[in-house]
Amino acid sequence: MARWWQSAVIYQVYPRSFQDSDGDGIGDLPGIAARLDHLVALGVDAVWISPFYPSPMADFGYDVADHRGVDPAFGTLADFDRLVAAAHERGLRVILDYVPNHTADTHPWFLDSRASHENPKRDWYIWREPAPDGGPPNNWRSEFGGAAWTLDAATGQYFYHAYLPQQPDLNWRNPAVQDAMLDVLRFWLDRGVDGFRVDAIHHLFEDASLRDNPPNPAWRDGMSPARRVLRTHTMDQPEVQGAVAAMRRLADLYPGERLLIGEAYLPIDRLMAYYGVDLSGFHLPFNFHLLSTPWSAPAIADLIARYEAALPEGAWPNWVLGNHDRSRVASRLGPRQARIAAMLLLTLRGTPTLYQGEELGLTDVPIPPGLVQDPWEKRVPGLGLGRDPVRTPMPWDGTAQAGFTTGTPWLPLGEAHRPLHATAQARDPGSMLRLYRDLLMLRRREPALSLGPIAAVAAEGDLLRYERRDPDGGRGLLVLLNLAEAERTLRVGGTPLLSTHGDAGSGTRLRSLEGMVMRPE
Ligand code: NOJ
Ligand code: MG
Repeated sequence: MARWWQSAVIYQVYPRSFQDSDGDGIGDLPGIAARLDHLVALGVDAVWISPFYPSPMADFGYDVADHRGVDPAFGTLADFDRLVAAAHERGLRVILDYVPNHTADTHPWFLDSRASHENPKRDWYIWREPAPDGGPPNNWRSEFGGAAWTLDAATGQYFYHAYLPQQPDLNWRNPAVQDAMLDVLRFWLDRGVDGFRVDAIHHLFEDASLRDNPPNPAWRDGMSPARRVLRTHTMDQPEVQGAVAAMRRLADLYPGERLLIGEAYLPIDRLMAYYGVDLSGFHLPFNFHLLSTPWSAPAIADLIARYEAALPEGAWPNWVLGNHDRSRVASRLGPRQARIAAMLLLTLRGTPTLYQGEELGLTDVPIPPGLVQDPWEKRVPGLGLGRDPVRTPMPWDGTAQAGFTTGTPWLPLGEAHRPLHATAQARDPGSMLRLYRDLLMLRRREPALSLGPIAAVAAEGDLLRYERRDPDGGRGLLVLLNLAEAERTLRVGGTPLLSTHGDAGSGTRLRSLEGMVMRPE
């Protein structure tokens, strides 16, 4: 029997930018509740909500100051409970963002920890003496630029932060920290959530002896300064697996298969370790490889083959085209290839996760320097690292603020997004939104697409093709993606079920940049 999350399609909501309900220009939980019907009409099964916990917002919620509440900008716990109830009524599952690696520097644990060397919570974070010259203990770099160590003048020691100085890393080697953070999971599981996306899991542990990271020979000007060194001693340490297994044991105590998804940007072989020994780890370690693989039929065919072959016995795959950290797929590939990418994502074997706005074909929005919000862009300007362009508000309708807010949006609405609003696209059979809806409907109707094996993955020049067999071994469906401008005649035909061109399509040829799902003759 398949688990719910195997046939599910997940939709990521970035709450600041989804729907505002009170006119402060910041999206909120009641706003999400008001837009659930968009998700139902789209046809997704679960909504993952990025952090909404009380936070000073140094990293827009990924700096959690209280793991058991809702930031006033986003609403109240009662709003949260209402949102979960409203989602469940509609058959939508709710997945939260769990941020175990670090807290906000305003979290009471950190305030205690930094108070003195003797404080019982001192060891809850990672404190070290300065190097002999008074500088940081070693050469570790913050992901967001600068040293990964900040000196606390009052106590004379440095604390470690994989991200901002306002995001001190918790010390997961301390069992009390593990217990406290597992309690956070319990709190939300008891409130009825269906799973978690676990943030930055590969950063959970660092080398205990603090060895310097080696220089990165591939670093070039224009790359993130954090990449000047390899993360040999700060990422993907062996201890992570034990912590993940503890999270999984806890989730498994709850009925209904509570889902754990891990965020780890890792090469395929390392990623597979996050399924855990005998699948005792994440149900789904996020597979981000479509974000970095060159957009060509041979490269994608090769990726699918390598990823499928690397999966441990019984492990379930998953695929992603974008998220709140990465350039949007419609900008990376252009609007026409983005339609092919949608068909790819929703016809591959494995659980797909969509990022809000992908279904509207939204592109990255250039943000004028004066309006920059993302701390990464502020700390390392001009390299294109900032994430504001992919976090602008959703365009819902043709009104002045696109139906997102009655106030001033926290990030500008994209001018290029105005004609792409959801209301217009819902009426236009050729729109991206309608393509996503059709793909999701087809996926729901055809067990071959949701649960069947994938076979015969091949690239024929610019044509990417694969079969999705019926789960019970029947003949299944054929997926054909023409990544080229040139038309092509098909050697094997069939009955077209869905074309990315929004019409019936033909069973014998593919037009320029056309993707097709067919029932073979
Ligand atoms: C990954 C999250 O997706 C990103 O938005 C955040 O800045 C870092 N982790 C730190 O929590
Ligand atoms: Mg850490």
